[in-house]
Amino acid sequence: MSKKRTASSKRWIAEHENDPYVQEARRLGFRSRAIFKLKEINERDRLLKPGLTVVDLGAAPGGWSQFARPLLGKNGRMIALDILPMEPVPEVEFICGDFRENDVLAQLEALTPPSSIDLVLSDIAPNISGVDAADAAASSYLADLVLDFAEARLKKGGVLLTKVFQGEGYEAYVKALRGKFGSVTVRKPKASRPRSREVYLLARNYGVL
Ligand SMILES: C[S@@+](CC[C@H](N)C(=O)[O-])C[C@H]1O[C@@H](n2cnc3c(N)ncnc32)[C@H](O)[C@@H]1O
Repeated sequence: MSKKRTASSKRWIAEHENDPYVQEARRLGFRSRAIFKLKEINERDRLLKPGLTVVDLGAAPGGWSQFARPLLGKNGRMIALDILPMEPVPEVEFICGDFRENDVLAQLEALTPPSSIDLVLSDIAPNISGVDAADAAASSYLADLVLDFAEARLKKGGVLLTKVFQGEGYEAYVKALRGKFGSVTVRKPKASRPRSREVYLLARNYGVL
């Protein structure tokens, strides 16, 4: 590891420890600061409701699942997937596997027949290699797979909330969403670091154009 990388990872650790969202997540018993992104979007857009069937893609360590599952009530259902193992979250079904692999997708599809999902959440982000072009390609490939899955499994009128990175391919992705969902809006919650190019696209009313 280069000196520069060591200094930047030390800076990242220091920044992480001082981050108020990290401290608040720990205080409340949540596994990630990312829950505050979903919480803010949910407060504004009221996505999580009793009785919904929700899929959480890129779920580990499980903050979004922890936050969302209780809001779905006893008639709700939540299925989470990640390439990394995840400590169980009560009443959340979990698939451990690479979303890009056909057999992993098949496991998820076996639990979610066509037109069975109300809400697809995706906070998937590939491991950053540091090579911008490779990272952008990896993340846009995952974003395309998320959209394919949402199209195959969402109910008519369903919702997709997905993290994407602004850059090459972003406008085309928004356009593709607009062709399939009744409304598409961009959300940049306060807990999303301002310098990060990540934004969340909220696509509502699947198939209702
Ligand atoms: C930002 S984290 C998600 C944090 C989560 N929303 C939370 O609140 O705890 C992104 C996740 O995407 C997962 N991921 C990246 N590539 C993946 C892939 N190909 N298949 C499945 N999960 C993947 C990573 O392992 C990581 O856990």
